[in-house]
Amino acid sequence: MSELNLVLLGPPGSGKGTQGERLQEDFDLPYHATGNILRRAVEEGTDLGKTAKEYMDNGDLVPDDVIIGVIAEELEKPEAEDGFILDGFPRTTPQAEALDEELQKVGRGLTAAILIDVPDAEVERRLGGRRTCVANGHVFHIEFNPPQEEGKCDVDGSELIVREDDRPEVIRRRLQTYYEKTEPLVSYYEERGLLRRVDGTKSPDQVGDQIRALLSTLRMEEDI
Ligand code: AP5
Repeated sequence: MSELNLVLLGPPGSGKGTQGERLQEDFDLPYHATGNILRRAVEEGTDLGKTAKEYMDNGDLVPDDVIIGVIAEELEKPEAEDGFILDGFPRTTPQAEALDEELQKVGRGLTAAILIDVPDAEVERRLGGRRTCVANGHVFHIEFNPPQEEGKCDVDGSELIVREDDRPEVIRRRLQTYYEKTEPLVSYYEERGLLRRVDGTKSPDQVGDQIRALLSTLRMEEDI
């Protein structure tokens, strides 16, 4: 496949971050998780972080213009020439349109928008047990994907924490925001022939296998 330009879609806790990290390893492409970018900005106290904090803590989306600029800057870097993996962007129709425009300007397009399908009850179970590495956002689950040493990230050894927005009341608000603002992107990408669905209720390895299989199918279609 000449370029691999991927968007990961799905409700909070569907496994976008888990699969995004695997795809990054498999394909050695830049991986941009807007949630991680924003959490880092909050941690560092930058202007972006100061703007984003209150929205994030309440389970709301940060304004489109704020996040569109961040991603546009990343996609213009030479590292993104062979492709990219976007996790958590786009999350609204204006963001999806902005991404299309950004890619069209340089004669590129998306390869696929991969929807990781997971029901709400599973989301609540997953986010309740999630532990996130404070340094780089690597993701674990106390039951489904435990770290080798409790409380410590397997990748970089940093502390694992419970995210501010993984409190039950904020999880419910994030789900509501997802259905209002982000779910319309399923039809947006379906209409453009770019949507690919995977069953996110399977184990992380099985979900990864489904994604690899669909990418091989796309590669074969491209070669025909
Ligand atoms: P963000 O960090 O993107 O949050 P999210 O979309 O709610 O997604 P999550 O990170 O919660 O979940 P995930 O799908 O990555 O699942 P994970 O792999 O961790 O965004 C946070 C906030 O930032 C937003 O609320 C918003 O305020 C702001 N924001 C971000 N982008 C924005 C944008 N574009 N526009 C405006 N605002 C924006 O998995 C979850 C848990 O389940 C883990 O513990 C994992 O180990 C476990 N798990 C994963 N897969 C499986 C599996 N198959 N089986 C069992 N367990 C699994």
